[in-house]
Amino acid sequence: MNGAEEILRVEGLGKTFPGVVALDGVDFDLRAGEVHVLLGENGAGKSTLIKMLSGAYQPDAGRILLDGSPVHIRTAAEARRLGIATIYQEFNLVPQLTVAENLALGRPPRRFGFVDTRRMHDQARELLDRVGIDVDPRARVAELGIARMQMVEIAKALALDARVLIMDEPTAVLTTGEVERLFTMVRQLRDRGVAIVFITHHLEEIARLGDRVTVLRDGRSVREVPATTPQDELVRLMVGRPIDQQYPRAAGDPGAPLLKVSGLTRAGAFAGVSFEIRAGEVVGLAGLVGAGRTEVARAVFGADPYDSGEVLMDGRPLPRTNVRAAMEAGLGLVPEDRKGQGLVLGADVAENLGLVTLSRSGRGGFVDRAGRRKEAGEVAGRLGVRMSNLGQEVRTLSGGNQQKIVIGKWLLADARVLILDEPTRGIDVGAKVEIYQLINSLTASGHAVLMISSDLPEILGMSDRVLVMARGRLVGELDAAQATQDAVMALAVTEVEETRVH
Ligand SMILES: Nc1ncnc2c1ncn2[C@@H]1O[C@H](COP(=O)(O)OP(=O)(O)OP(=O)(O)O)[C@@H](O)[C@H]1O
Ligand SMILES: [Mg+2]
Repeated sequence: MNGAEEILRVEGLGKTFPGVVALDGVDFDLRAGEVHVLLGENGAGKSTLIKMLSGAYQPDAGRILLDGSPVHIRTAAEARRLGIATIYQEFNLVPQLTVAENLALGRPPRRFGFVDTRRMHDQARELLDRVGIDVDPRARVAELGIARMQMVEIAKALALDARVLIMDEPTAVLTTGEVERLFTMVRQLRDRGVAIVFITHHLEEIARLGDRVTVLRDGRSVREVPATTPQDELVRLMVGRPIDQQYPRAAGDPGAPLLKVSGLTRAGAFAGVSFEIRAGEVVGLAGLVGAGRTEVARAVFGADPYDSGEVLMDGRPLPRTNVRAAMEAGLGLVPEDRKGQGLVLGADVAENLGLVTLSRSGRGGFVDRAGRRKEAGEVAGRLGVRMSNLGQEVRTLSGGNQQKIVIGKWLLADARVLILDEPTRGIDVGAKVEIYQLINSLTASGHAVLMISSDLPEILGMSDRVLVMARGRLVGELDAAQATQDAVMALAVTEVEETRVH
């Protein structure tokens, strides 16, 4: 990339929010035809920086230069006019509208003054083909899974034909195959001279896709290094200290069966799913997006219905679609769509951490608020939630810190079987290890964890057993010794012939 033309430069950029200095003198530059990775812990300031490049926030200090001239990017429309397209960490799609309507937002094709729906759908189809996803343009966005929403978001940004493309954790919600497709697309854009800013917490992606890396720590740009820098060095720059063991799992002997699922079936989603989870176990549930993992988890927890089959806790059947009964029996679920299902964005950190415990103690007398606050403070501290205090609104936390709150809330709730759906999505390397250690202490005290994850190294590193789903069916089970990346992937792409449930 040497000698390539510089498009964008940021000098001494600063941004303060009430009680938080989010950015404190950041320098950064971006060249045509490069992938420039922004790396930093949760709350380091990555999203804040790109929000100033995309017109969402105004800096309080420093300046932004485009082609060598200072610019004031006051609105999102202005950023787009300057050729800057952004894919945000929080999706910006309108859930009530269809995919095609979202893709055409603001500029739907018209004919005789009316929206030309046929053409709008054709254009949407073409964009979706470019990102290579099979989504019906007429589907409502609210009905798509989170990975597909992300692909639609990417298609939307591509529609702008920008010179600068900013991607805030685009791979967080994608599985292996989709990540490959995304990388191919990003490389094509880069080779056409597009300048790309790429944020990720998956360190292995950096050398594969990136050219340069700017490391942010506590709102400052600490270093710029080549993307070939070894991972442990990147971690050290980002966290300020080395991390020795990324997957600290030490399995014990499994105890009595706690959760038993047999023959769980829902037409169109999953069929004949049976498994058992024992005290002290971490069981991984692997598979591609759309394999039905989340659907099964939600049905087991009672959040969604099923047609036939049975869920037993301690040998006693749980009533269907009854989350309260599931929780009272000691089952917990940390959902993948945490924005929608896991948090009350307008409430503060302490209140969010107390949500599950509060609803559980609803029957029995008074609530020990001071005790709760203390517990909440401890969990927040352990997971390193970056916040001004426990009274900060969850809405204003960084993406990864919001995730930590949802996980923390369930770790406080003391569920005996905890289902974690993508527990470390968007979480930085240091905090991941803390979450794994909390999982270990849960299982050491006789609890059990079912972990759904698209992060294969995480599944392999933390599971005592791995179940693999494909097309709504459980297609295999591997113990820790057999479970390799190849073995899991081979099962995950199994074609299920007999009954296609999709
Ligand atoms: N609107 C806001 N009001 C108050 N504080 C904010 C606001 N937006 C961001 N912050 C704070 O600024 C800091 C930086 O947040 P930012 O979202 O930029 O982090 P990030 O590097 O993107 O982290 P992550 O990896 O978790 O996404 C955080 O401490 C966050 O709480
Ligand atoms: Mg962020």
